[in-house]
Amino acid sequence: MTKVRIAILASGSGSNAESIMKWAADSDIAEVVCVLSDKRKALVLERAKNNNVPALAVSKKKNEDKTYFEQRMIASLEGYRPDWIVLAGFMKLLGPHFLKTYDKKIVNIHPSLLPLFPGVDGYGDAFKANVTESGCTIHYVDAGMDTGEIIAQKKFDLVPGESFEDFKARGLAIENKFYPEVLEKLFKDIV
Ligand code: GRF
Repeated sequence: MTKVRIAILASGSGSNAESIMKWAADSDIAEVVCVLSDKRKALVLERAKNNNVPALAVSKKKNEDKTYFEQRMIASLEGYRPDWIVLAGFMKLLGPHFLKTYDKKIVNIHPSLLPLFPGVDGYGDAFKANVTESGCTIHYVDAGMDTGEIIAQKKFDLVPGESFEDFKARGLAIENKFYPEVLEKLFKDIV
């Protein structure tokens, strides 16, 4: 059976990328063909190498036009022929050029129950707002900041008195489990 070819884009630690690579390694429906980071030193690139997945670094040059930068990302990805782009902590907003190239084939995970708390610090903003429940959202990516169509959400309660660090770590562990589960369901329908 032909597998869905996934490229992961990530900027940081890559715990979600790692859980997706581990899931895909045993999957009949999907494979991770490469991991691309805009941060040369991101831990996610080490994780990719440790999982025998090609690790690509494409950083944005100072004053480089966004379209050129995205063209370089697309050129790096091209040889791996990804069908889908999976964002896992990728900290740049994608522009029209990239979105058009992978039209409706880009998904992201965001650490809040969207549309609540979009932006760079979902857990931080939710915690500061004293919410009693939080969660994460997997959604399609459009030109806005975390505004694309929602695919799935996972809620969890806050534990009264827990620290921000514990809350965030708990949330991240839930994300790591949830993301592969949702991808499995999403791709099952298309292979
Ligand atoms: C996660 O909380 C994800 O929801 C957000 O960025 C964080 C990435 O964590 N978009 P990691 O790099 O996957 O560990």
